[in-house]
Amino acid sequence: MAEYTLKINGKSYTTNAPEDMPLLWVLRDLLELRGTKFGCGAGLCGACTVHLEGAAIRSCSFPVSAVGSQAITTIEGLSENGDHPLQKAWQEHGVPQCGYCQTGQIMNAAALLKQNPKPSETEVEKAMQGNLCRCGTYTRIKSAILSVSN
Ligand code: FES
Repeated sequence: MAEYTLKINGKSYTTNAPEDMPLLWVLRDLLELRGTKFGCGAGLCGACTVHLEGAAIRSCSFPVSAVGSQAITTIEGLSENGDHPLQKAWQEHGVPQCGYCQTGQIMNAAALLKQNPKPSETEVEKAMQGNLCRCGTYTRIKSAILSVSN
């Protein structure tokens, strides 16, 4: 057990946690930031995607002890009022079905656009292929991302 002070969504949070505790559980269970979802717990589905210094990571497979002073952004901090261009595009395209995986999808897409503001359709497919959706919303996800980027 150790004390961690984490920079999340521009705020400072201090909590005690086991060193090997995945960031996902620190966010959800200790800090009550529950927008980040648990899917597989093994780095395979992308439901738990958050940003570390702007890059997408899988928080289920990232120990809290590895965060240090790096800035974390979760879906709660992606925009002030749910008005990030991707969040608006998600609404306009009616992307979610059950919705469970969508915060991870949006966070991965936001990291992609930060790195590559005008990705091709193929680049979007490639970047998003590791974020699984059991409802099969892939076509709408791709359309929403391309509507923001092109
Ligand atoms: Fe982290 Fe599936 S819950 S990748």
